[in-house]
Amino acid sequence: MTVLDLGCGPGFFTIELAQMVGKSGRVIAADLQEGMLQKLRDKIQGTELEERITLHKCEENKIGLPEDADFILAFYMVHEIPHQEEFLNEIKSILKSNGHLFIVEPPFHVSKTEFEEMVKKAKDARFTPVESPKVLFSMTVILKKGPQ
Ligand SMILES: C[S@@+](CC[C@H](N)C(=O)[O-])C[C@H]1O[C@@H](n2cnc3c(N)ncnc32)[C@H](O)[C@@H]1O
Repeated sequence: MTVLDLGCGPGFFTIELAQMVGKSGRVIAADLQEGMLQKLRDKIQGTELEERITLHKCEENKIGLPEDADFILAFYMVHEIPHQEEFLNEIKSILKSNGHLFIVEPPFHVSKTEFEEMVKKAKDARFTPVESPKVLFSMTVILKKGPQ
C-alpha cells in the first residue's frame, strides 16, 4: 500500500504509518515546510524505515505529487489550506480509484459548522463520506472517491 501523510509535520504519524504498511509498503511524507521534513529526516536516518518513507516538499498551492496513493491522511492540516476546493480536487487526482482520504480536524481551531462546510466541499468535489471514526478531541471523516 502507498500512503500519503499530507501535512506530515515532524512525522508523528508517518512513523506509525510506515510500521503499518510493512516492508512491502511505502509512505510519502509531504509538507510545505522544509524544516518539518528535516525533523522527520533526522528521525528516520539510519533506521529501516528510511527505505519505506519518501519525503516530498509541497508548494504553497500545489501538492505536486508524481504518483498515486491508496490512502491519504490529512491530520490537523486541512484548516490551514486557504483554497480547499482546489486542494480537494488535487487530492482526488492523486487518490487511486478505490482509495480513501482520512481527514481529522481539531475542534479548538475549527468549528462544527466549518467542519461541515469542508465536508460539503468534499462532496461537491465528488467524494462520499463513508465513516467518522472516533479520535480523541477531534472531528473526523473518511471519504472515498465517487460518484464519478
Ligand atoms: C498542525 S500541523 C499537523 C502535523 C501532523 N499532521 C500532525 O498531526 O502531527 C499542520 C502541518 O500541515 C502543513 N501544511 C500546511 N499547509 C500545507 C500545504 N498547503 N501543503 C502541505 N502541507 C501543509 C504545515 O506545514 C504543518 O506541518
